[in-house]
Amino acid sequence: MRLIVTGGAGFIGSAVVRQAVVAGHEVLNLDALTYAACLDNVASVADRPNYTFLEADIRDRAAMDQAFADHQPDAIMHLAAESHVDRSIDGPGTFIETNITGTYTLLEAARAYWLAQGKPDSFRFHHISTDEVYGSLGDTGQFTEDTPYDPRSPYSASKAASDHLVRAWAETYGLPVVLTNCSNNYGPYHFPEKLIPVVILNALAGKPLPIYGDGSNVRDWLYVEDHADALLTVLQRGELGRSYNIGGENERSNLELVQTICAILDRLKPGPHPYADLITFVTDRPGHDARYAIDPTRIREELGWRPSVTVEEGLEKTVRWYLDNEPWWRALQDRQGVGQRLGVKT
Ligand SMILES: NC(=O)c1ccc[n+]([C@@H]2O[C@H](COP(=O)([O-])OP(=O)(O)OC[C@H]3O[C@@H](n4cnc5c(N)ncnc54)[C@H](O)[C@@H]3O)[C@@H](O)[C@H]2O)c1
Repeated sequence: MRLIVTGGAGFIGSAVVRQAVVAGHEVLNLDALTYAACLDNVASVADRPNYTFLEADIRDRAAMDQAFADHQPDAIMHLAAESHVDRSIDGPGTFIETNITGTYTLLEAARAYWLAQGKPDSFRFHHISTDEVYGSLGDTGQFTEDTPYDPRSPYSASKAASDHLVRAWAETYGLPVVLTNCSNNYGPYHFPEKLIPVVILNALAGKPLPIYGDGSNVRDWLYVEDHADALLTVLQRGELGRSYNIGGENERSNLELVQTICAILDRLKPGPHPYADLITFVTDRPGHDARYAIDPTRIREELGWRPSVTVEEGLEKTVRWYLDNEPWWRALQDRQGVGQRLGVKT
């Protein structure tokens, strides 16, 4: 297939790009190269003849029209977004502009291209979203694709808005879309402002391991390579117009997660004291959702997809990757805001 992948220099987009290029698809990686981007993430495929990179902003309609005209895609996988909840609390404006206006601009460019092609049913606009649009769960229950939206942070509200736009473009204009809503990802190339890389890198530096609140917030963790595999599965075999929840079936509280990382580090790179001694509870994030959990029945039963690793296996691979790739994360630690506490109530 000929694919445009937006946000392909980010964490998840780069995993999609690597897998899609290796699978033989003709991939245009379209990314504005914000603070969260790193082209080293795709270095392993950058020299292949079926890979091209374009620096462009999804809010730039002319640039999007040109990208569609030049690449002539069979599908677009839309991952470009502002993605960090804490940054959305401090500065919601860019989340509104990129996640909502940017998705609108991309939908319009895709629709114009699709119309000019004669409205092929085979075209796909695959919108990649998050389980955070469903809000927060109590101790029981899981998000299904029919759970009402109830976003509670500027980030999740902007993603929810973009999901609504994608569904509206399908209903109103007939644009062939699929949507996916995924749980928290982790793995190689995770930008060092998110919880898991922060914990690994602070532990290695002997710094406190910050846990928001009492650490009881529960997330359903999915290894990023499994997410990329699920996305390519939905793109190629998902039913037109349908949305699929993607989860890891790996619920852990933040405290359990950090303790697991510490135990892995104690084994792989023992320090003078157990790394768990560095755990420090800090002021909670305002509006911190208590629990997310995905019911993955639809993607499992309709498409036969399930995650390949448990969170313990995925975390061990991730810790090993950070130990083996110090130049990658060192280069990102100087970027604006990295290493600082963001998103504290004002
Ligand atoms: N990280 C998660 O756990 C998770 C879970 C579920 C869904 N998602 C969704 O998956 C997608 C990718 O998430 P991620 O964690 O890889 O994010 P990321 O922040 O690592 O990467 C986002 C990429 O988008 C690019 N980008 C940002 N604004 C842009 C713009 N205006 N035009 C073009 N490119 C732009 C950035 O340069 C960056 O390379 C997002 O849509 C996010 O909402 C993430």
